Amino acid sequence: MKSKVYEAQWIGMAAKRRGDNAPLLRRRFALCGEVVSAELNICGVGYYEAWINGVRVGDHVLDPAQTDYTERVMVVRHDVTGMMAAGENVLGVMLGDGWYNQNKVWVEACLWYGEPRLWCVLAIRYRDGREERVCSDEAWRCSAGPVVSNNVYAGEVYDARREQPGWNTAGFCDDEWERVVVMEGPGGRMELQTIPPIRVTQTLTPVSIRGVGEGSYMVDMGQNHAGWVKIRLQGSAGTEITLRFAERLDDAGMLDTSSTGVFATGVEQRDRYICRGGGVEEWEPRFTYHGFRYVEVSGWPGAFSAEAISGRVVHTDFRVAGGFECSDERLDVLHRMALWTHRSNVHSVPEDCPARERCGWLGDANVVCEYSLWNYDSRSLWEKYLDDIETTRRLHGGLPCNIAPGKRTCGMARPDWAMAFVMIPWYVYVHSGARGVLEQHWEGMTRLMEHLRAEAAEWIVEDGYGDWCDPGGDGLCTHTPPALTSSLWFYQSARVLSKVGQLLGETAAAEKYEHWAGQVKAAVMRRFYDAARATFGSQTGNAMALAFRVVPEEDEARVAAALVEDILGRDTHVTTGIMGLRYLFEVLSGHGHGDLALALMHQDSYPSFGNMLARGATTLWEGWGEPEHDLAHGARSLNHPMMGGYDNWFYTTLAGMQPDETQPGFAHIYLRPMPPRGLAWVRAWHDTPYGRLVSAWRNEGGEFVWEIEVPAGCRATATLPFSGRQCRLEGGTYQLRDTYVQGGRG
Ligand code: BGC
Repeated sequence: MKSKVYEAQWIGMAAKRRGDNAPLLRRRFALCGEVVSAELNICGVGYYEAWINGVRVGDHVLDPAQTDYTERVMVVRHDVTGMMAAGENVLGVMLGDGWYNQNKVWVEACLWYGEPRLWCVLAIRYRDGREERVCSDEAWRCSAGPVVSNNVYAGEVYDARREQPGWNTAGFCDDEWERVVVMEGPGGRMELQTIPPIRVTQTLTPVSIRGVGEGSYMVDMGQNHAGWVKIRLQGSAGTEITLRFAERLDDAGMLDTSSTGVFATGVEQRDRYICRGGGVEEWEPRFTYHGFRYVEVSGWPGAFSAEAISGRVVHTDFRVAGGFECSDERLDVLHRMALWTHRSNVHSVPEDCPARERCGWLGDANVVCEYSLWNYDSRSLWEKYLDDIETTRRLHGGLPCNIAPGKRTCGMARPDWAMAFVMIPWYVYVHSGARGVLEQHWEGMTRLMEHLRAEAAEWIVEDGYGDWCDPGGDGLCTHTPPALTSSLWFYQSARVLSKVGQLLGETAAAEKYEHWAGQVKAAVMRRFYDAARATFGSQTGNAMALAFRVVPEEDEARVAAALVEDILGRDTHVTTGIMGLRYLFEVLSGHGHGDLALALMHQDSYPSFGNMLARGATTLWEGWGEPEHDLAHGARSLNHPMMGGYDNWFYTTLAGMQPDETQPGFAHIYLRPMPPRGLAWVRAWHDTPYGRLVSAWRNEGGEFVWEIEVPAGCRATATLPFSGRQCRLEGGTYQLRDTYVQGGRG
């Protein structure tokens, strides 16, 4: 998309005049005939909202998607035919700072791209064939608006007294307004935004409201999430309401903002609203979002009630593509918790947390991607994210950075985080069958692997963040040496690249990577495997080695036994961080220990998910809740999706739905549920590219009754869990039966 084609220019308000304000830009235009189509192509960086004749264009919020703006910027296209009026019309835009003009938080590196600016083209076609274009150019006028400051992290200040009623409609007199200034573009290629937009997807009603002082209230939304609140009030002009946001309360029941990362960001999440006066006012911010469950409201005029405030859940609005439920309420709760955590952390980028950093850390993305794909139609998000990794690596010497996109890269990616760049294309390919993603990133992936090979000593990759946030101790990874996890990822990445090479006809490369994988495996065995005790020394080490099939087949059962022994030796507790959590449950079930996996999910003492729940968690925590970590590193976030890798287990193992990587995109599906004894029934579905796949089973008085729906065009191989009988299925619905065997699969 070339801006020249339309002769649109980038425009904004002169920086000196603007200050921190989110300026209003407007353009009058007259229609001269019957309109058959009108299409608005628009990009305002950092964020924008647009109106035609006073009516908001579309329902996206926080547009456009965050990118490396010097490399690419996203243009959003809206059909606005129905919004055109006969005669005079007005196109109005409010411009926010977003990620483009973010210079307040995490500024140890310069994160700033520039002043907010707008580019747009309204393309109109008349019945008689004439075409007309209203472009952003020097003819526009601008003025300061009611948003007096806005920052993604710190919040928004809105002074309703500064509203200019009717500013975005015809008939408004803009004589006092000033001329816009023409600016340079951000520099990046302009691309049509194709990922689902960010939207307000849900409205939450407070579960409790408590007075905490004169005009001050503590509101509990009952659910940690990302978004903002909408308020409704009546106050005299100039009445100022402050809203502070946090994930938890302190012992005295007051707001505790520490877990939102104030120690690192230097700012609290805080919005302010200043009343216009003279009637009922409603407001919600537009250029910020918060990670929160609790809101402290202060300065409230008059009575306060649940009708005065609602929680607005805001995230990339992808279609739900999977569902899981079962007879065990704990599992359902943990499934919902993983989903709330994931949804809180996608705003056009898969983020680490929605308050402190809001960054696309690669290592987190690696363990989130698969459960994202099971639950949501999120392929486009992951493809966009891979493009983000591409742009950051182009800007920084050809290798991925720890974070993408944006200027806060935290340097070149450490090996285990970097390997997301090999694994994510593979997950997307296996789930969707789309080869393009592999072709597109082949060069980058191989370059990364060559680099890691050069860094590795005797095939061992020493460096890495490791099994991040495992329990206990002062460090961030204490139970499993990072050299083990990094080398296991190196092994897995080499295997994946070998398969990709085969697919792309890069046979020599494929053979080379297969050879590498063999070398890494041998080195890992030499260095980390205690053959006598059949262990890699930790739960994560054993779980990953089994999941990646590093263990010699004849030793697998013994390694699984060592894993079990370790868990039982700790009174059924985990020592896993984000990597172990991705594989532990599947591995336990896969080796006949599903009952233990279930018992771990029911553990209530530290460290466990039950313990998080007992301590009030409604989203997954960054750590397991160690107070010493809070002291040593600053309080941790309470909304970190990297801990949610267990969610795969629900789909792949309890429901038993597994894509066949040799016939990707669910062209052929393996169905092999592994029912632990404690579960009476499971029901799961997933929308594959062919249609809906369902696997639902129940224990009917000792009989395993399994209902299956295979989408048309797919084939499936179903394995009955107790008899081991296999059935080949095609599109259709089936009921299979098997006899429960005590001590059988589990
Ligand atoms: C982030 C993590 C990230 C890690 C790596 C943290 O501050 O929140 O999720 O992966 O840093 O260092």
